[in-house]
Amino acid sequence: MLFDSMLVCPTCLGENTFIEIQDKEKQYWVCEACAGVFPIYFGAPYLVDLRSLLETNPDYLAAWHVSQMNAMDLYRENDSASVAHIERDDVQQVMGYMDLKNKIVLDIGSGIFNNPEYITSCQAKKVFCLDPMAPEKKPEFSFIGGMAEYLPFADKSIDVVTYITSLDHVIDVDSAIREVNRVLKNEGVLYLWIGFTQDEKLQGVPPKQPLLSRNYRGNHESVEQALKHYSDNLNSYQSRLKEYESKFEESSALLVDKFHLRHFEKEHFKEQINRHGFTLLCEQKIHYVEGGYNDFWTVRKYNQAVHEGGHDIDLNGMGLQLNQINTQINNLSPLKYQVEKIMEQLNQLNQLNQLNQMTTDLDQQLQEIKKAMPIFGFSLLGVKQELQSLLQKGVAMPKQFYRSLKKRFT
Ligand SMILES: C[S@@+](CC[C@H](N)C(=O)[O-])C[C@H]1O[C@@H](n2cnc3c(N)ncnc32)[C@H](O)[C@@H]1O
Ligand SMILES: [Zn+2]
Repeated sequence: MLFDSMLVCPTCLGENTFIEIQDKEKQYWVCEACAGVFPIYFGAPYLVDLRSLLETNPDYLAAWHVSQMNAMDLYRENDSASVAHIERDDVQQVMGYMDLKNKIVLDIGSGIFNNPEYITSCQAKKVFCLDPMAPEKKPEFSFIGGMAEYLPFADKSIDVVTYITSLDHVIDVDSAIREVNRVLKNEGVLYLWIGFTQDEKLQGVPPKQPLLSRNYRGNHESVEQALKHYSDNLNSYQSRLKEYESKFEESSALLVDKFHLRHFEKEHFKEQINRHGFTLLCEQKIHYVEGGYNDFWTVRKYNQAVHEGGHDIDLNGMGLQLNQINTQINNLSPLKYQVEKIMEQLNQLNQLNQLNQMTTDLDQQLQEIKKAMPIFGFSLLGVKQELQSLLQKGVAMPKQFYRSLKKRFT
């Protein structure tokens, strides 16, 4: 397929940043923005960044590598068991559940050994099949090497993402779902062929931190340096894998069975997709003639502008936390009522205090008045007597009256 303008650098999400390089008979895409080097295998770009794999948690990487190794031989040999074959009854059911017509579709974990006809035979507008296994011959379908945890697509560029029996195989489910949310257009659809379990032992141990998140450091390297760096990384990565294989038991510590780091518990999984901005639209069953069933979920991206640029700003998670906080606030409302009552009482108490203060002030003023009273009372008495004597004398001369008052008070 070689260059498709929809592909971006998986590491820095740079658009049109790839240059094609031929080095010792091998072809590479080198990202001019972040110095990521990506080999081309049989014409298909392998957009897996060794730098991020080398930096990720080694216990999870070891377990994932062992699970991939265990499955690889099976995928290679047991061709007829692959759900890629369109004639299978379960595949027919699933194809009836999906609407891919005229859509840009990304199938994550498509495998490399079989043409995933469940997608490629539908009348999609465009199909990308992505898997971290490196092809061993020229793929007959539009294959890109890549990891679910850091997809080589721009934000909101895909109509439909499908995970056909592959989401339980990735290294980090949270990072993978976060990426689906990022690359899907608003209201885009995610189809999941998935199995669930109630058995806690099969649910595995999710990583404490997101794994394989983007680590874009900017480009400080020339193309030659980048290629040299890549070849060193390839050597380190290959010797790491050998070491994991030699310590098989230890490396398998995080596996719940030969092929998986986890299986999903239905309710937890529902919460997990909600947390990443998805809502379950439709739940269907894939029935088997021999009995038993798998689940098929149609999930819709309901929240926009989340995880843009592939960074770990979990706006949805924050939104959900906000909802939880709101619920908690609502649950606190009886307490809130009591607090309001207490506030009211405190207010009243405050007013009471002010009243008390005023009475104290008034009291003081009263005391002052009382202190002044004797003089005042005496004076009044004097005036009264003066007036009476004046009246008795039959004289009511204002001038004399004022003069006598003046004499008394000065
Ligand atoms: C059970 S197979 C399904 C293959 C194909 N969808 C089918 O139905 O035939 C699981 C696939 O998931 C792929 N896988 C494992 N880890 C992955 C990852 N981190 N990102 C994307 N795909 C991954 C495996 O390489 C494998 O091809
Ligand atoms: Zn880049």
